Amino acid sequence: MIFARPRRNRQSAAIRNLVRESTIHPSNLIMPLFIKEGKNLAEPISSMPGIFRFSPDLIIKECKEIYSLGVSGVALFPAIEDSLKDKHAKESVNPEGLYAKTIRMVKEAVPELAVFTDVAMDPYSSDGHDGLVNEQGEIVNDETLPILADMALCQAKAGADFVAPSDMMDGRVAAIRQALDENGYTNVGILSYTAKYASAFYGPFRDALNSAPKKGDKKTYQMDPANAKEALRELYLDISEGADMVMVKPGLPYLDIVSLLASESDVPVAVYNVSGEYAMLRAASTNGWLDYKKVVMETLLSFKRAGASVILSYHSKEASQWIQES
Ligand code: PBG
Repeated sequence: MIFARPRRNRQSAAIRNLVRESTIHPSNLIMPLFIKEGKNLAEPISSMPGIFRFSPDLIIKECKEIYSLGVSGVALFPAIEDSLKDKHAKESVNPEGLYAKTIRMVKEAVPELAVFTDVAMDPYSSDGHDGLVNEQGEIVNDETLPILADMALCQAKAGADFVAPSDMMDGRVAAIRQALDENGYTNVGILSYTAKYASAFYGPFRDALNSAPKKGDKKTYQMDPANAKEALRELYLDISEGADMVMVKPGLPYLDIVSLLASESDVPVAVYNVSGEYAMLRAASTNGWLDYKKVVMETLLSFKRAGASVILSYHSKEASQWIQES
């Protein structure tokens, strides 16, 4: 006799629907978008088929579509011209620059769409690092903090709902929180890239922004892929410094970290399903090796199951279209 038969709960769609533990809803999703100066510009990114660098006017159009699909937010990333890059990332605090201008336009056109902005020096840095590089080639921590704080403040002034430091400097959440609060932006939240690993899965993103480090790698600030306990250390620090949400990045190869943070954290956990993960599913599907729609939905579901409530994914728009159609 077999008394316990798990298959009874899988016997029909109705029963499976009743016992399903995790579901993906467009409201769980955030769509990352790349911005480039210009008009009516949609520049394809070769390592991310289906993803573009949009000029501000087309970003507005894109944001309207994304909002109408029920997606909760967008994460904006600027592709800055080389001529505007310097050691101190000065363009990152330009209130009339591409980034601040686009944030203002998006908030004006689609006020209910949550705007998450990126705080890190690399898109604006002639060194291609997230922090300031000194004469010895070291990425210096404490000198970077005021730059990040000013950058976050500039984004808050432009209308960002949440600023998202992706730089992995020590103490940056506290520095940003202080700058925001001192200037009256107590309602602007911080989504911290808490456990951001030194990963090779960021390659296509660096193509998109032309932001790869000119020298060296990011291993002195991004985490070693071998470490899990260190993610807890970063978690406790970020929460104590005032992070409103904490993020794990990349996603798929780090589901154990998502699960760990979800069980330990008293603030919501987000996950970044990064550019290389997007490229993998795209490439395999284009070759006819995987069913794109099915692997995307299974991937997004895995993040929910692991405990993430917020998912940044380049699949967000199309997945929301599919969910809406179903
Ligand atoms: C850098 C930054 C990176 C990503 C977001 N912000 C790449 C890096 O650390 O070099 C990667 C996102 C992706 O791969 O989709 N501040």
